[in-house]
Amino acid sequence: MIQITKDTRLVILTGAGISAESGLRTFRDSGGLWEDQRVEDVATPEGFARDPKLVWRFYKTRYKAAIDAQPNSGHAALVILEKFLGKNFCLITQNVDGLHTKAGSTGVLEMHGTLYECYCTKCLAMYRTAEIDLDPDLPVCSKCGSMLRPYIVWFGEIPYHLPEIEGKLRNCDLLMIIGTSGNVYPAAGFVMTAKYFGASTMAVNLDTVANSDYIDEFHQGKAGDILPKLVEQWC
Ligand code: OAD
Ligand code: ZN
Repeated sequence: MIQITKDTRLVILTGAGISAESGLRTFRDSGGLWEDQRVEDVATPEGFARDPKLVWRFYKTRYKAAIDAQPNSGHAALVILEKFLGKNFCLITQNVDGLHTKAGSTGVLEMHGTLYECYCTKCLAMYRTAEIDLDPDLPVCSKCGSMLRPYIVWFGEIPYHLPEIEGKLRNCDLLMIIGTSGNVYPAAGFVMTAKYFGASTMAVNLDTVANSDYIDEFHQGKAGDILPKLVEQWC
């Protein structure tokens, strides 16, 4: 059983599974978002160019669900871990729902962007989603009148914070991946990088993960049950 101390440099990568117990849908599970929508239609630059109204509808619905959602005991356990480890703790998320920050985590690396921000497709001005008028089918930039888009990384685009993440992965003692299926790169490859540079790896998931060959210790079950128990044992 992997143990941690205050000196353990811990990197955590979370995915949609950690927010499932907050009532937000995952992508690839049964009942997941990709059952109703084709990825190509709502999560690629090409899909947005073809039908921006459809894409905006998809993200407006997800934004409204995220602002109504509350963090769960899994998110809360990671806040305790951050307080325990201080600068040795790093939280990376593929989630765009803002629930880690709402729970009290700080400095979260939101590698796939966030539903809470948008930007102009022409002049690149940034907006908080809360300050723009979401009523029109196509929200526009108040500075130049062009179409806004969600601050979300789509397939074919480069995730945010990759240089910082690479540095953390090379210099950690343990990487935990929580509630992520291990299907989407580059995040799915983080376990390989961490192992290559000498770290241990752990997964917390309801089900098996696609990158399980690189996982040293697997905890099967709900993040909201497992994380509080691990944290109680460690901190
Ligand atoms: P997925 O939907 O691919 O995987 C969710 C994972 O969470 C699955 O492995 C489930 O078994 C697990 N899970 C579900 N409920 C859980 C719970 N209560 N506790 C623990 N695990 C649970 O979601 P991601 O791996 O996050 O990207 O998907 C990665 C990326 O693919 C997303 O960021 C998104 C998507 O397309 C973009 O849109 C760019
Ligand atoms: Zn603009």
